Amino acid sequence: MKKLLTAVITAGILAVTASSVWSLDEDSDYIVDNGGVESLRGHQQLADINKSEPMKRVPRDQQPIDREYIQQPPLIPHTIRGYQVNLNANKCLSCHSFKNAGAMGATKISVTHFETREGTTLSDVSPRRYFCLQCHVTQADAKPLVENNFKPVESLR
Ligand code: HEC
Ligand code: HEC
Repeated sequence: MKKLLTAVITAGILAVTASSVWSLDEDSDYIVDNGGVESLRGHQQLADINKSEPMKRVPRDQQPIDREYIQQPPLIPHTIRGYQVNLNANKCLSCHSFKNAGAMGATKISVTHFETREGTTLSDVSPRRYFCLQCHVTQADAKPLVENNFKPVESLR
């Protein structure tokens, strides 16, 4: 009888603890919509304490921008607003592919863009070079976030 009583009481305590943990989780889910994870920021939505910056203006069309080192992916000297790159279409290649570059007056992608990581040259753009914006970025006239003393290599100065 004593054992049964202990078991019942233990079960009761467990149930109460479990339910309070449960309701705590529900509460925090209610406050932040991030699965209940609390970060150093505490229980606050990022958007409430840090308003996003306005979009920077990317110049429409410029001359190609000088490179700073030999293996640098050249910066994009034009806007790319609305240019889709996805499973079905690659807007960049409609101007920069070997086939279209001449007619569009754009720079051809270089031969490295056809190489797989094993060094085989394919007949079309290599999957690892398909998502152009992984490496190429537009520029805007913006204040640098941190100081930068980078100097181009001697041969490019
Ligand atoms: C409508 C045609 C067109 C489309 C679409 C286009 N570009 Fe361009 N791109 C150009 C032209 C034209 C130039 C400048 C060529 C020149 O003046 O020498 C250029 C220049 C560049 C350069 C600089 C090359 C260099 O040697 O400095 C890069 C990098 C580039 N584009 C990347 C992209 C990426 C990435 C996309 C897709 C997000 C894209 N472009 C979409 C026409 C296009
Ligand atoms: C993994 C990084 C990477 C990706 C992805 C990538 N590029 Fe490049 N791209 C480079 C690098 C690095 C260079 C300069 C060295 C070279 O030619 O390989 C370059 C060079 C270029 C050039 C100048 C070629 C020349 O002969 O001067 C153009 C144009 C270009 N890329 C367009 C594109 C386009 C369009 C795409 C998407 C289809 C693309 N790149 C995807 C890294 C990348």
